[in-house]
Amino acid sequence: MTQFQKIKQELINSPKTWLITGCAGFIGSNLLEMLLLLNQKVVGLDNFSTGHQHNLDEVATQLSSQQWQNFHFVKGDIRELSDCNKALSHYEEGVDYILHQAALGSVPRSIADPLLTNSANITGFLTMLTAAKDSKVKSFVYAASSSTYGDHPGLPKVEEVIGKPLSPYAVTKYVNELYADVFYKTYGLNCTGLRYFNVFGKRQDPDGAYAAVIPKWTAAMIANEAVLINGDGETSRDFCFIENVVQANILAATANAAGKNQVYNVALGDRTSLNSLFASLKIALQANGIEYQQSPTYRDFRAGDVRHSQADIAKAKSLLGFEPEFKIQQGIDKAMPWYINFLS
Ligand SMILES: NC(=O)c1ccc[n+]([C@@H]2O[C@H](COP(=O)([O-])OP(=O)(O)OC[C@H]3O[C@@H](n4cnc5c(N)ncnc54)[C@H](O)[C@@H]3O)[C@@H](O)[C@H]2O)c1
Repeated sequence: MTQFQKIKQELINSPKTWLITGCAGFIGSNLLEMLLLLNQKVVGLDNFSTGHQHNLDEVATQLSSQQWQNFHFVKGDIRELSDCNKALSHYEEGVDYILHQAALGSVPRSIADPLLTNSANITGFLTMLTAAKDSKVKSFVYAASSSTYGDHPGLPKVEEVIGKPLSPYAVTKYVNELYADVFYKTYGLNCTGLRYFNVFGKRQDPDGAYAAVIPKWTAAMIANEAVLINGDGETSRDFCFIENVVQANILAATANAAGKNQVYNVALGDRTSLNSLFASLKIALQANGIEYQQSPTYRDFRAGDVRHSQADIAKAKSLLGFEPEFKIQQGIDKAMPWYINFLS
């Protein structure tokens, strides 16, 4: 039995209360789905800035009505202390674990509007931390980012060795780690950061200027439109399927003392170039009866992007028992029918 299987069984036997911020977004809604399937009580907080009601509606369709009744949604903003407190105090017994996902993602968005990204990602983070320290929460797990490795050229990335940030977004995610560490040291709040590396899967938004590469290309390919590759296509990323990320969050929240108050890479530990990602998407579409005939269009490299990214996940494996279940092609194959259905 894996550590994840063991923890899931323990949670079913002894349900806990969770707060997911950003629960209407991609990662948050997948966390929500898993926790409700495990019969947990969940409070969700979201202001719908990039999240969607349809994500919550879709989660409901995956559950029994009893499981769905274990969910309470607070429409609110993490920058408002009263909204954070409202979410934390909905249940009389309080909240056991916080999974803090709410933030404005995207490097280009942060370059276009650094003040907005700063307010959601730093002021919002600090506000949520402040509410958490005054509550009975056992641990605060937050979405950190591989962008924190910045300009450090070393590969694979190990948690202790970071470079200088390359974008306002990366600054905000690094500041999150600094605040989390200080809140542990000064207030004793258990904080664990998960540095996600290019997460993908169902409910990742394909729309808008700041869409991530997998949903953006998938949408373009389904619509038989051009796929635009920034640079020569040999830029690489450690793409991580959403179900591996869900596992990491649950393991981090329930970790023992040695596993808490750490920062972990959450990825597969593999490196995939954009060119081979394009080929993988083409194969997955083909398996679903969609032939994409066009070649990609190459354009300039994008400002703020790092050239290569690959995680060393040894720390999460040894301290959390993290064992990613899905390789990239398995994840793409699993996500593709959802995209085809969503976009048709
Ligand atoms: N997706 C990735 O590959 C990736 C990689 C590294 C880090 N992350 C981090 O993971 C987290 C979740 O990302 P995602 O991909 O699910 O993005 P997402 O945009 O789908 O979800 C973010 C959610 O947070 C909500 N939100 C934003 N600002 C808010 C505010 N001020 N108050 C309340 N809610 C607010 C949005 O409405 C949205 O529902 C973010 O912190 C992001 O920075 C994501």
